[in-house]
Amino acid sequence: MAGPLANKHVVLGVTGSIACYKALDLASKLVQAGALVDTIMSYGATQFVTPLAFRSITHRAVVTDSFDPDSEYSVEHVALAQQADVIVVAPATVHCIAKLALGLADDPLTTTIIAATAPLVVAPAMDGNMYDHPATQANIATLKERGVVIAGPGIGRLASGLSGVGRLLETPELLGYISYAMGKDGDFAGRTVVVSAGGTMEPIDPVRVITNHSSGKMGYALAEAARDRGANVVLVTAPTNLADPALVKVVHVRTAEQMGKAVQEHATKADALVMAAAVADYKPAVEAGQKIKKNDDELNISLAKTEDILKTAKGNFVRVGFAAESENLVENAKSKVTSKKLDLIVANDITAEGSGFGSDTNKVTLIDRDLAVEELPLLTKYDVSNRILDRVKALFKD
Ligand code: CTP
Repeated sequence: MAGPLANKHVVLGVTGSIACYKALDLASKLVQAGALVDTIMSYGATQFVTPLAFRSITHRAVVTDSFDPDSEYSVEHVALAQQADVIVVAPATVHCIAKLALGLADDPLTTTIIAATAPLVVAPAMDGNMYDHPATQANIATLKERGVVIAGPGIGRLASGLSGVGRLLETPELLGYISYAMGKDGDFAGRTVVVSAGGTMEPIDPVRVITNHSSGKMGYALAEAARDRGANVVLVTAPTNLADPALVKVVHVRTAEQMGKAVQEHATKADALVMAAAVADYKPAVEAGQKIKKNDDELNISLAKTEDILKTAKGNFVRVGFAAESENLVENAKSKVTSKKLDLIVANDITAEGSGFGSDTNKVTLIDRDLAVEELPLLTKYDVSNRILDRVKALFKD
């Protein structure tokens, strides 16, 4: 199994909040992502959901008691602490956060955390007033200073019926924070990577656009992979159906022109620009101010060339392009390396199986500025991203 969580030991700490039911979903998604999940529950958590529920999902023992004579671990908190690649407390109550800030160790979870050196993610869930309380704010600030990754809380409906800040983040976001926490000191730490994604939309009139089949998945996977290696990531994206990746600066645009402006603005300070977006090469020469009515049998729309963002972007960054081709893959991609002065191009045959638009996998060929060709096997888009980033790393200009 691929991905940042595959075969990782995750200690999932669950403390007493109604949001405990969401922790079951998190446990399930962690397991699906290939993680080995050891759950530690506070007494309060066991009042909301049962240890059996977590055991059924994780297929591993659930720790609830520091003094359980039947435990499979000799010294539980030390064993789990040493194994952990990451510790996640979700949901984290106001009380748990206070204990962590003070360094207290009076239950299996806090004892494990204080015995561990693994990255720690704390996902608060509480009522708005509890979160806003100066004591809670001070405790969260203390944890942040120590390098703890605070995930959320989100804004929305709370269990009290009120609306405000205090919701446990949703599972996909939590997974993003967990991957980020594991990789924040990775080989891209201190680097800025700008990634573009999606298919631009060029308006014909207020109702219609010219666009393409790009799903954005490749660009989003690149943004997540770069984040998971410690990079600051700016994702400039045309509209997609995908959720914004956590801990990535996402700039939403629609047209090639808007994408060009946003890319240039952020690329100036970047170490790498990876243009995974399918940018329209042509746009309607004039956008009709009113909806075009159907009158004649034929409608001709005159198209004008858009600016080539990749070719014209100014700055001293590693320049990576994509070439989606339906024929003469290597030849066409090589000529783009030369004409756009690229450091690397990622060529993919859009007709190949597992490589089409919207697919979760991709089979690509990498061609560098010396026109050396490396054909990669069929991989997930996340794995393809890491192979691209390996090459980018070797090409950094300083
Ligand atoms: N690109 C860009 N700006 C454009 C068009 C494309 O930055 N206006 C980028 C794409 O994001 C991609 C690379 O250039 O990284 C190659 O795009 P592609 O459309 O395949 O290349 P073109 O030079 O437009 O060639 P083709 O004739 O095959 O469309």
